[in-house]
Amino acid sequence: MNNNKKRPVILDGDPGHDDAIAWVLAAASDELDIKAMVSVAGNQTIEKTTYNGRRIAALLHLKDVPFAMGREKPLLGNLEVAANFHGVSGLDGPALPEPDHPLSELSSVELMAKVLRESEEKVTIISTGTQTNVAALLLAYPELKDKIELISIMGGGLRNGNWTCGAEFNILNDPEAAWIEFNSGVPLQMCGLDVTERALVYPSDWERIRELNNPVAKVVAEWFDFFFIHVSSLGWKGATLHDPCAVMSLIHPEIFTIKDAYVQIETQGQYCRGATVADFREISDAKPNCRVVLDLDREKFVDYLVEACAKYEGWVI
Ligand code: RIB
Ligand code: CA
Repeated sequence: MNNNKKRPVILDGDPGHDDAIAWVLAAASDELDIKAMVSVAGNQTIEKTTYNGRRIAALLHLKDVPFAMGREKPLLGNLEVAANFHGVSGLDGPALPEPDHPLSELSSVELMAKVLRESEEKVTIISTGTQTNVAALLLAYPELKDKIELISIMGGGLRNGNWTCGAEFNILNDPEAAWIEFNSGVPLQMCGLDVTERALVYPSDWERIRELNNPVAKVVAEWFDFFFIHVSSLGWKGATLHDPCAVMSLIHPEIFTIKDAYVQIETQGQYCRGATVADFREISDAKPNCRVVLDLDREKFVDYLVEACAKYEGWVI
């Protein structure tokens, strides 16, 4: 990336509390230029994630950024939602403004393709839900692959799963889509559970955000309040902040440990459908297809999150 130019990005997610915080982080960054936002079914149905995404866009004053509704179900399997984590609405907790600009008439795939086609520079896709929109884009417009700088994914996990013992929720919800993506040749960066379960934000951390006392910081703190209800019931002492890693690892890569690897997606398997399997063997002749994010400096991660929320000082919603 050119040092003084912003990185053009497309936000693709299933908000979802951690998607929402990832989008707050992205909108606060001086390094990112948000060209489009698209929803996907995942944490909740497509209607709910779309409504939530449009309300987040209104909160963040992204009125000029086109927002398109994405794929309502995985390519092959059945959709599983995560109401236990995100509530019936998919973004339970604080009140949010209503959408403040019309939904795009384009589908997610058509809007993503339009942005890629019209951009002078290559575009980064930050994908924090299932990979269904991305796979559909790659299938429908293979000629646009070369306009993708990178797909920064929250998904997968080399050591363990979270929805099953072997698979992480985003990948498990659409393994075929992830397989298409990981075998497309497009540059990928994967923030799996290896790093996101270490991106722990403790209640004392998000009290720092609440104490900023600006309207967006207040909403973010209340998103943490809600999200932590179920997460803490599972025994976590902090909120596992998955999706913001897919943004933070772009704008502050220096606080992360990242290794190139050959990663494949298991689409079969009685126990491991949706698993992400990496080959780090020195003897392997498998060419790396992905930058795997393995660890982070948690304290710096939190500091940068607080710094981003502080940028909304004086915000009006
Ligand atoms: O497994 C965590 C992922 O699943 C996150 O993206 C969360 O928002 C859910 O989509
Ligand atoms: Ca998500």
